[in-house]
Amino acid sequence: MLWTTWLGLAAAILGTGKSAAADTVYRDPDTGLVFTSNFELYKSDGHGITVRIAIPDNVQSYTAFDAVIQMVIPNEVGWAGLAWGGSMTNNPLLVAWRGTSNNAVLSPRWASSHVQPQPYSGAQYTLFKTGTKTNATHTQFTALCKGCTSWTASDGSTRYLSPRGGNRLAFAYSPTRPASPNSPTSSLSIHEVVGYWQHDFSQAANANFEATVSKLVS
Ligand code: HEM
Repeated sequence: MLWTTWLGLAAAILGTGKSAAADTVYRDPDTGLVFTSNFELYKSDGHGITVRIAIPDNVQSYTAFDAVIQMVIPNEVGWAGLAWGGSMTNNPLLVAWRGTSNNAVLSPRWASSHVQPQPYSGAQYTLFKTGTKTNATHTQFTALCKGCTSWTASDGSTRYLSPRGGNRLAFAYSPTRPASPNSPTSSLSIHEVVGYWQHDFSQAANANFEATVSKLVS
């Protein structure tokens, strides 16, 4: 019995997802933005979460820059997590799920250790009406993030994502919906699957990023 319990716990912690398709360029007909897109499997039967990133083309390395995140999440998912720094601890996390009115709920979080991440005020997300939608099978959201591409590491140094090359991102999947599905500060249960991939930011560069985004936020 104890052995079975430990096996279950090990599976919960060690389950890892797979990248099904690496870095496709996606020209979004709704928002007009160009994204690089990765599809991360959380089940071997082909179910996965799509993560897309769009950034401005005029940013220097080692600076903080705005980014637009678009995720497509199957409705069976309880919550989906994105780690901008590619690991659970000490980087901006985004946890997203479907609220009770079929809306997307975005919850910026931070974890200093491998326990439930707490709300994080260093990253601000602005959800776009355009590019955010739900149907019978999937929920998609599109949001601007300020504060996702730079943060303070545990040793006090500042970390920056590269606007030119690949950045290691991570995702987490839980089949269990948050306890208070309409509250971004809801408690969360642990993931069943986590995974990593290199996400290409160079092909995510948008020449008219600011102008396009300013229309989407208004
Ligand atoms: C109740 C919430 C959560 C709990 C209790 C929890 C706990 C844990 C534990 C115990 C591990 C294993 C650590 C190890 O192997 O040493 C882990 C790994 C991981 N978790 Fe979480 N986690 C939670 C939420 C999240 C969220 C929201 C994300 C992403 C947005 C996330 C991303 C990861 C990743 C990427 C790993 C792989 C190891 C690493 O990169 O540190 N977790 N988590």
